[in-house]
Amino acid sequence: LNRLRDTCTGFRPFHRARSELVVDSSGKVFKGFTEAYGKIKGAPAFIAFIGDMAGDYIQEQVGYTGEGIILEATSLGLATCWIGGFFKPEVAASLVTLEDNERILAVTPVGYTSKHESFEERLMSGFGFNHRRRSLSSLVTGLQDAPDWARKAVETARLAPSAINRQPWKFHIEPDAIKISLRTSGPEFNLSKRLDCGIAMMHIEVAARDSGINGEWQFLNSPDVAIFKVIP
Ligand SMILES: Cc1cc2nc3c(=O)[nH]c(=O)nc-3n(C[C@H](O)[C@H](O)[C@H](O)COP(=O)(O)O)c2cc1C
Repeated sequence: LNRLRDTCTGFRPFHRARSELVVDSSGKVFKGFTEAYGKIKGAPAFIAFIGDMAGDYIQEQVGYTGEGIILEATSLGLATCWIGGFFKPEVAASLVTLEDNERILAVTPVGYTSKHESFEERLMSGFGFNHRRRSLSSLVTGLQDAPDWARKAVETARLAPSAINRQPWKFHIEPDAIKISLRTSGPEFNLSKRLDCGIAMMHIEVAARDSGINGEWQFLNSPDVAIFKVIP
């Protein structure tokens, strides 16, 4: 947990978005239903994903930053689950020091999963029917002539988590670039689709780097979200 706390403090690619690890095992931040669904019982801590709402593109930036933390937690063997709806913002805010314009957009419990799931837990997680995703061909344009790195990047983004698994994104592969846009159909449910798209941005970048490709992001206006351009 200490390592993860350091990552939260240190990984701050945008100055208006940040993450804070809070040691609290009471679970009082979460609304009842979530703990079973998230399969993380008795988590010793949670992370608050915080945005300064005065900033442009803050939803994307909190999603991107938060997913960086989530992936790091995962690689440390810790279990997490983005919670954007089923938490109590006022309780979370009472455990974190917020600046004037800051808001907690989402949280995650941080804990350890048990290998053996009860019947109830399997029921809640859909008997293995979870992890469903839209097909690549329905999400991506420009796939036909795409180089390997771009193909891998959109495949990795396809698997990204999103609120209620809505996958509110489209990807356009361009020469030396990948653009993310919103699928604007479907409800927002009080949670910006742009936050989900920030999560997908992180997946694209991690996959690109794994292929030895470096790039930089430029934010775009709706319905576009951002474009990742390769740095030659
Ligand atoms: C921004 C965000 C908010 C989420 N909020 C909740 C939530 O409030 N409650 C919950 O049980 N799951 C929540 N989830 C988890 C999603 O339902 C889950 O990631 C998605 O269904 C994909 O699940 P899978 O990766 O197991 O297939 C959230 C996920 C994201 C990315």
